[in-house]
Amino acid sequence: ESIRVFAPATIANVVCGYDILGLAVDAPGDEVIMRKRSEPGVIITKITGDDGRLPLDASKNTVSASVEHYLRHVGRPDVGIEIELHKQMPIGSGLGSSSASTVAGLFAINAMLGNPLSKMELVPFAMKGEELACGTGHADNVAPAILGGFVLIKSYEPLDIIKLPYPEELHCAIVFPEVDVPTRDARRMIREKIALKDAVTQWGNIAGLVSGLFMKDLGLIGRSMKDVLIEPVRSILIPDFHRMREIAMINGAISFGISGSGPSVFAFTKDPDTSVKITKAIQQHLSKLNIGSQAYTSAV
Ligand code: HSE
Repeated sequence: ESIRVFAPATIANVVCGYDILGLAVDAPGDEVIMRKRSEPGVIITKITGDDGRLPLDASKNTVSASVEHYLRHVGRPDVGIEIELHKQMPIGSGLGSSSASTVAGLFAINAMLGNPLSKMELVPFAMKGEELACGTGHADNVAPAILGGFVLIKSYEPLDIIKLPYPEELHCAIVFPEVDVPTRDARRMIREKIALKDAVTQWGNIAGLVSGLFMKDLGLIGRSMKDVLIEPVRSILIPDFHRMREIAMINGAISFGISGSGPSVFAFTKDPDTSVKITKAIQQHLSKLNIGSQAYTSAV
């Protein structure tokens, strides 16, 4: 018996909602193939697409570690599992790479055991995987990867996750400039304290974005997707960030910002053609700077 599961890349933060907003895209994503084996315990038999960067050691790999955690929780430490992980998206890109792998693994083991846990109940297990990957169990990649669509983490303690509606025509353009930004480092650079004035601006924008999603108002969505807290600090790590924004906006983007902890950037658009136009223009600019890049377009 074997199970094959795909889990998608995700855009965390959605610019103004640090750690509380995220959305899933159609592609890229990661694939896990899981098989039962006679001996108890979880092992990784194969990893492809990672350039040798991920650990095969089951206790250090986020996929196997979260599957083990799951098995202990559901009272099935007797189960033996072997895992193949096929990475089909870049690591350290800000597109929820570790999240996609972990979620695919958890989805697979849950299906193999006849789905004892609901999708929502899988979220805390996937958060454990994030903790292993970057030091903090944030949910804004794993929750949308599991539940699909646009997701709000209304609170962490207790965990309260809300699926949000969004306009059907919403598309996105994603460009990954090939520089490495580990999430762990990108989280360390953020200030712990913020000015009240900035907080007021930020929560106005978050409320505006969520209202815009409900009202299906692309103009409101666009003018709310601004970040005065995190972007000014993290954008320093991203090559020509401000020029990329200009290029996106000139080519018809509704909004533009950093995906997760970067270096990937994304733009919301109202149709697939605009997304393609934006990714082409940004990639062309990056290639002039001798920076390689990968691009994706997707519906939200
Ligand atoms: N909310 C997280 C962060 C997402 O910005 O660090 C990481 O992908």
